[in-house]
Amino acid sequence: MEQQEQFTTRLGFILTAAGSAIGLGAIWKFPYIAGQNGGGAFLIIFILFTIILGLPLLLAEFTIGRSAQRDAISSFKRIAPGTKWYYIGILGVITCFILLSFYSVIGGWIISYLLKAITGGLNGLDSQQYASLFEQTIANPVTSLVVQLVFILLTIIVVAKGLQKGIERASSIMMPALAILFIILVIRSVTLDGASTGIAFLLEPDFSKVTSKTILEAMGQSFFTLSIGVSVMITYSAYLPKHQSLPKSAFSIVGMNIAIVLLAGLAIFPAVFSFGLSPDAGPVLLFHVLPTIFSQLPFGMAFFVAFLIIFLFAALTSAFSMLEIIVSVIAKGDQAKRSKAAWIIGIAIFIFGIPSALSYGLLNDFTIFNKSFFDLADFTVSNILMPLGSLLMAVFVSFKMKKSALYEEIKRGSNISQFIFQLWFILIRYVAPILIIAVMLDVLGVW
Ligand code: PHE
Repeated sequence: MEQQEQFTTRLGFILTAAGSAIGLGAIWKFPYIAGQNGGGAFLIIFILFTIILGLPLLLAEFTIGRSAQRDAISSFKRIAPGTKWYYIGILGVITCFILLSFYSVIGGWIISYLLKAITGGLNGLDSQQYASLFEQTIANPVTSLVVQLVFILLTIIVVAKGLQKGIERASSIMMPALAILFIILVIRSVTLDGASTGIAFLLEPDFSKVTSKTILEAMGQSFFTLSIGVSVMITYSAYLPKHQSLPKSAFSIVGMNIAIVLLAGLAIFPAVFSFGLSPDAGPVLLFHVLPTIFSQLPFGMAFFVAFLIIFLFAALTSAFSMLEIIVSVIAKGDQAKRSKAAWIIGIAIFIFGIPSALSYGLLNDFTIFNKSFFDLADFTVSNILMPLGSLLMAVFVSFKMKKSALYEEIKRGSNISQFIFQLWFILIRYVAPILIIAVMLDVLGVW
């Protein structure tokens, strides 16, 4: 493949990589998983995993990507020719395929609520009514599929035209706007009657509720929110100029992610308790709670519309990255192939996602291993495939790539010390594999 077009600035790259990272994971998924896993203790374990595993792994993917400058599969072939390591890239492609199939369902929920909010369909209800309105909305098979399709079409159009990098400019406005709207929400939420129970739920950890499943979910969540283990970050950093600092980029993305997770938690939980809703409502949690908080703000529905637009944007920039890695593997820089691949794969993902979209309506009672299709797809991606991809990535980087070459690559554009590099290397070579394997075996009940 020819040399790829490069990002011109570090900010451009960070915004695109952060665009992939910040999405439904931090805003929609974190609150509901934390809500099901006891709140504060989950938050702390999640942050620990993000720093000990997520940050080093993100840097590892950047290093692979920038040194190979290829797509998810060719990068491995270039660094380790004649070996089977490129299966990590294939695993990433498969994971992103399944991931987008249910991610688009939630993307569709945002679109449906955006339309409702704009047309005034969300005015003047109370919190219980908002919750049941949402249940009814997602139970309708036709609307669920239509909005899911719209979300996928938006993703296909951008990826087919290769416009992701143009989205950088919009991100530089949207991300700060997201933070500001969240701050307003947090202020409203923590000043509601009875908010203190929710604040305590998030900030006073109760470790007695921690089980091996909590730990697995927290680990999966930290990979999910950083988009790691699936070669997305390899694909994006392939475009990164050599004079940009990889460690700084990794730090900023992790920092932004943790900030959004905290804001989302502080916006949601005080309101959940104040409105008498249940924190373990599952994937619907955010949509139950948000309309009520907004309805209690001056110009609430206008704010809600703004929030949903930004939220949709954040979800789309993550969705672009999922489709992009699959398409770039096939297109390898050929525009005609890119467009065709984006359409064919995008539609295939939509079809594969149909049972997930119907999981809250028609297929409500259909379960496999005690999980709805939606939950099964999510569980497989977040708690099996992403940890597995991350594990293999850590082993590949620390055992297969030359340590001196790693140091060279990481040092380009940064003044990282030998000590920090060594620390990173130990985390990747020993801590990450051992911890990931231990957590996975723990869930299987091995110890
Ligand atoms: N990080 C994204 C989010 O939090 C999800 C994602 C995972 C995107 C893996 C790409 C690859 O929403």
